[in-house]
Amino acid sequence: MNWPMLSRGFRRQFRLWRGEKLPLIAGHKLLYRCNLECDMCPFWRRPDEELLDLNAERRLMAKLADGGVLFLGFEGGEPLLRHDLPAILGEAHERFHTSLVTNGFLLAHRIGEFARSLDFLFVSLDGIGELHDRLRGIPGSFDRAVQGLRVARERLPVAINSTLTRHNLHHALPLVDLARSLGVKVNFQVAFDYSTAGSLSPSGSALRATLTTLLELKRQGAPILNSQAYFVSVLRSWFGGGAPWECKPWLTINIDPSGRIVLPCYVLNEYGGKRTVWDCDIPSLWASIDWEPYRSCNRCALSCYLEPSLFSWTSSSVVRDRILSPLLDRPTPGKPPGAPGPVPPRVPSGG
Ligand SMILES: C[S@@+](CC[C@H](N)C(=O)[O-])C[C@H]1O[C@@H](n2cnc3c(N)ncnc32)[C@H](O)[C@@H]1O
Ligand code: SF4
Ligand code: SF4
Repeated sequence: MNWPMLSRGFRRQFRLWRGEKLPLIAGHKLLYRCNLECDMCPFWRRPDEELLDLNAERRLMAKLADGGVLFLGFEGGEPLLRHDLPAILGEAHERFHTSLVTNGFLLAHRIGEFARSLDFLFVSLDGIGELHDRLRGIPGSFDRAVQGLRVARERLPVAINSTLTRHNLHHALPLVDLARSLGVKVNFQVAFDYSTAGSLSPSGSALRATLTTLLELKRQGAPILNSQAYFVSVLRSWFGGGAPWECKPWLTINIDPSGRIVLPCYVLNEYGGKRTVWDCDIPSLWASIDWEPYRSCNRCALSCYLEPSLFSWTSSSVVRDRILSPLLDRPTPGKPPGAPGPVPPRVPSGG
């Protein structure tokens, strides 16, 4: 964390003490276009409007910084299809903790252009080998992503990001093994059924069993990035008749490829933004929204909303998973395979 970020962090904290609600994390889609065609994903099916150039990205970042954001995650579509990605990441890295989610297809070729401007990288893998290729629509995409992971982990902290659908629950444990063998971590999130994509979200006893096993593996020290609270909350709310988790979508602001803010969250409006980030004052906009109805929503289990919502200084397991582990297990790029992987202080955007 650099000095401008630290001082913004103090200012942010002061405003929180005064009772303001502010976003902490921003997710920004740089485009919808993609080089893969995943069944569960609505984004590659959307036409891109005019994309933001570097100047517009700078103005966007200034608004996010003023609005209290400290962590900025880039995604898409496939962000590595943007030729100006290194310049955009360079700007972002001066102001925020930066992360990126990629399908990894072009990663081995492009990582050298932007690795120094990224604090954390997520590479999506939805299964091992042929299953991943089938779900992602393009043969060879698994091998390309793993090759990208191997190259990238020498340069910066990396994790696998895996989306659980009804077709790949049986590959969740092999993915944990793959993460272990590559010396990285793996983050899981349950797919959400967008109306314009394949309806693949898993449910029932198979999902319950997978989440229960992942929770147990996490407790035993497997290289799983999710907090224990992620699995516990979904299991209790969706399966156990327990209390709903309190969703706090105001902690995450999502910006579409044209600079529009997606409200109240990524999924409730199917990723439709209305107002651009430049046309409003984020703290005033946040104060004008009634967030109350979303507290007990529990409709999706996307990590970019659920993990920040679960954070609490009074929960010892959450503080251990999200604060202490990252500090004690500082990522060391270039660690040999098999060594314990890095734990980032944040969560992937995307979904
Ligand atoms: C939309 S993609 C964009 C970045 C890049 N193209 C990739 O695949 O990593 C970001 C993440 O969202 C996940 N995702 C796609 N469709 C989803 C869905 N219906 N529900 C939850 N996550 C989804 C992807 O698996 C990926 O990890
Ligand atoms: S999940 Fe990522 S790789 Fe797959 S189609 Fe969507 S944007 Fe492309
Ligand atoms: S649970 Fe998901 S859909 Fe519901 S308010 Fe939270 S982020 Fe939005």
